[in-house]
Amino acid sequence: MYNVADSSRSASPTLPAAGFSPSYDPLIPHPEHVKDPYRVYAELRSNAPLYRSPHGVWIASGYEEVSTMLKSPDFGRGYFYFDNMAKRLGEAMVSQPVYASAREMMVMKDGPDHLRLRGLVAHFFSHRNVEALRPFMRSVMEGLIDKALEKSSFDVMTDIAFPLPSAVICRLVGLPEADWPRFRQRSTNGSRALEPAPLSPLELAEQNHAVEEARDYFSWLIELRKREPGDDLATLLVNAEAAGQASREEVIENLRMMFVGGQETTVNTIGNGLLALHRHPDQLQALKSDRALIPDAVTEIVRYDSAVQITPRQARCDMEMCGAAITAGDTILCVVASANRDERAWVQADRFDISRKRNYPLSFGGGPHYCLGAQLGMVETEVALAALLDRMPNLALDIADPRWLPGTVVFRGLQSLPAHA
Ligand code: HEM
Repeated sequence: MYNVADSSRSASPTLPAAGFSPSYDPLIPHPEHVKDPYRVYAELRSNAPLYRSPHGVWIASGYEEVSTMLKSPDFGRGYFYFDNMAKRLGEAMVSQPVYASAREMMVMKDGPDHLRLRGLVAHFFSHRNVEALRPFMRSVMEGLIDKALEKSSFDVMTDIAFPLPSAVICRLVGLPEADWPRFRQRSTNGSRALEPAPLSPLELAEQNHAVEEARDYFSWLIELRKREPGDDLATLLVNAEAAGQASREEVIENLRMMFVGGQETTVNTIGNGLLALHRHPDQLQALKSDRALIPDAVTEIVRYDSAVQITPRQARCDMEMCGAAITAGDTILCVVASANRDERAWVQADRFDISRKRNYPLSFGGGPHYCLGAQLGMVETEVALAALLDRMPNLALDIADPRWLPGTVVFRGLQSLPAHA
C-alpha cells in the first residue's frame, strides 16, 4: 500500500540552478514529449519546480507549487487565455471565432460571474445525479461491446472510449437522440484550441467552422427546449436566461463547454487507463480478481497518466512565491500530471498501483474551478472498465508502440488502441 508521502520530507529547490534548461521545450509538442512527458517533468521537478520558460510563461511542476497555486485566491483563470494568446499570436487571433466565443465559458471567468454560471448547473453534477446515470452508461457500454464483438478486431478508442462519454454528454445536455452522431467527431470537439501551440491555418479554418456549426446547433436546441422542455442542461439554462440569470451567449457557450470539457477528457482517461492496466498485468489481474478495486483503480489511472496534463492560472497581483518573484498578469502553467508524480507527495510515484489509499491526484485542478464533471468522468471510467472486464475477459490490446494524439501537451490521449476480444 502506498500513501501520499509524508509532508515533512525535504522540499526540493524552487528556482533553477543557473543555466538550467530542460532537454526540450515542454510547451512545444516534441514527439518524445508526446510519447513520454514524464521524463522532462522529472527533470523540471528536480531542477526547478517553478521554472520561467523562455516564452516568459512560468511552469509549475512540483506538487506543493501546483496545489498552492490552484487553490490560492491570488491566482485566477479568466483572462489568462486571451491575454496570453494576444501577446503570443496577436490581437487578430483572439477575435477568431474559435477563441472569441470561448470567453463566455465558466472556465474562462473568475469571481462573481464564474460563481453565478457554475452555481446554475452545479447540482446537475451532484453525487446523486451522477450515480443515477450508471444504468444508462452500462446500457450504452453493452451496445458498444455487442457491436465490437461482431468484428474480429476493433479500435478501443473509436469503438468504445469515445462513444460512451459522447452519449452521456448528449443525454445530459438534452440533444434529441437522432442528433447524437453529429457530436461523435473527435477532432472537432474544441480541445485543440486549448493547446499552447498555435493552430495551423488549416486547423484554424476547421476549428472556426466546427465552432460556428456547434453554436448554430445550440441556438436551435435552445429554441427547441423552450417549446419542449426536458430534464436536461439545455432546459435548465434556457430557464436561467428567462429569469435573467444568464445571457444567451453564456447559455450557448456553457452548453458547448460540456462537450469541450467532458468528452475528450473522459475518452482519454478510459484509453490511458486500459493502456496502463495492460502494461501492468499484475494490476490487471488484481482488478479481475476483485472488482471492488475498480474505484481505486480509476483514481490511480487519473493520477498515473492524466488526460489533462496542464491547467493554467494567471497571477492577480505581484507576489513572491516559492522563492520566485511573480508579477501581476504572469501566466503559470500548472503541470498537474507532473505534480501527480512528485516523490515528495507520493511514495514510489512512478509506480502504477491500484491499491493506493489516500490518493488525491491534482488531475481535476483545484480551488473554485475544480472540475465540475470530475465524478461523472470517474464513474464513466468505472462503468467502462467493469463492462469490459465482464464481457471481454480476454481482451488483448496492441500496446507495443501506442499511437498518441500528436501535437498536444495539455491533453494526453491515444489516437488509436487496436484490440481483439
Ligand atoms: C476524467 C476526466 C476529466 C478530467 C481529467 C477533467 C479535468 C479538468 C480540469 C483540469 C479542469 C480545470 C480545473 C482547474 O483549472 O482548476 C476542468 C474543468 C472543468 N471540467 Fe473537467 N475533467 C474531466 C471530465 C469532465 C466532465 C465529464 C465534464 C462535464 C461533462 C467536465 C466539465 C468541466 C467543467 C464545466 C469545468 C470548468 C469548471 C469551472 O471553471 O468552474 N469535466 N476539468
